[in-house]
Amino acid sequence: MWDPTSWQNKPSAQNFEYPNPAKLQASVNKLAQLPPLVTAMEVSRLKEQLAKVVRGEAFLLQGGDCAESFANCRTQPITNKLKILLQMSLILIHGMRKPVVRVGRIAGQYAKPRSDATETQGKITLPSYRGDLINKPGFSQQDREPNPELMVQGYHYAAVTLNYIRALVDGGFADLQHPEYWNLDFVKHSPLAEQYQNLVHSINDTLSFIKSISGIQASSLSRVDFYTSHEALNLFYEQPLTRKADDGHYYDLSTHFPWIGMRTAQLGGAHVDYFRGIANPIAVKIGAEMPAEDLLELIDILNPTNEAGRLTLIVRLGVANVAKQLPKLIEIVKTKKKQILWSCDPMHGNTHKTESGIKTRRFDDILFELTQSFHIHREMQSHLGGVHFELTGENVTECIGGARGLSESDLSTAYETLLDPRLNYEQSLEMAMLIAQQ
Ligand code: PEP
Ligand code: CO
Repeated sequence: MWDPTSWQNKPSAQNFEYPNPAKLQASVNKLAQLPPLVTAMEVSRLKEQLAKVVRGEAFLLQGGDCAESFANCRTQPITNKLKILLQMSLILIHGMRKPVVRVGRIAGQYAKPRSDATETQGKITLPSYRGDLINKPGFSQQDREPNPELMVQGYHYAAVTLNYIRALVDGGFADLQHPEYWNLDFVKHSPLAEQYQNLVHSINDTLSFIKSISGIQASSLSRVDFYTSHEALNLFYEQPLTRKADDGHYYDLSTHFPWIGMRTAQLGGAHVDYFRGIANPIAVKIGAEMPAEDLLELIDILNPTNEAGRLTLIVRLGVANVAKQLPKLIEIVKTKKKQILWSCDPMHGNTHKTESGIKTRRFDDILFELTQSFHIHREMQSHLGGVHFELTGENVTECIGGARGLSESDLSTAYETLLDPRLNYEQSLEMAMLIAQQ
């Protein structure tokens, strides 16, 4: 029998210990009493929309920070993130002639898997920083000790983030008639400006055409759906926010769309066990290390009824592996007629360090993995239903390349990420324009 605590009997990769069990229990109890952040009805609506993506009737755009931080729970970063995702989605709708399902890595993307359990600076070795939900980034024993109260804080930060997003979305932020919606601040001097401007004109023409022949008012075109997602890494946070809905199913109501990270996708592991019992649409990151034989078993555990929209595979192989590995994965899914939403994360297989030790990604690698993925799916009569990016609405310099040709020496100008390098505002827009041409 599954229940929201069964995962505790399974081995967990990315394990860490809370030093004080009584304090942990107090935080878990507190979270269990608080209202959920999202509702089962919203979650089910998203699942229906993702089923449309599986059928080829819509496209999935998922993006946001690698790691959200409590300190960045501020007006501008949230507004800008929402804005870039909305603008990208519009570019995709225009190019692909399909509705776009928009999902942020937002309002809960606070827990991070780490390759190394410890970090050494000079002679001192401490536990690695695992995201604001678990410990703190400062380099002291106290900062790095897992603190369960951070889960309660994280819940509140997620709640205010989500509240602000809902207010923006409901209040007409996505209204295409608002000139500030098309604000070109960052792109003004970009080589992309003209192409972008043409696109905006074309969308505006279409809108006025629709309005004049159908009488549909702008207001009814201004409401968009926007969903949240995060890596459900810290199951002590997810468990108390897991609630039984009227339909008798358990839902993880900390977010609409939780995913299992690559490092915790082991068959028989705690994360797979937790996810098999919740009714949300769920995703799993698939890396080059995943044995093809394990994939089928994983699919059967997580989606035993083969329901379309339930399971998204976010494939992140890297430019070096995509041509060799992706066809094998697609072949298994096709042969066994599995209902899968295929998404491509072209970020995580393409991270490298510069000679001076800065983590970065090349725009061209990201684009190449994407175009290869579109191509391979098409060749195999499958289809790529979505994309997954680490991006920000700010003008950061973390990834190399793009229309403005950011180089290694530009990285230090505005390198702000807590962990992985993100596409900046302009690189994200450009990426959307390039995907729209696929
Ligand atoms: C991430 O999405 O930030 C991440 C850690 O990804 P992955 O599990 O694919 O490595
Ligand atoms: Co990341």
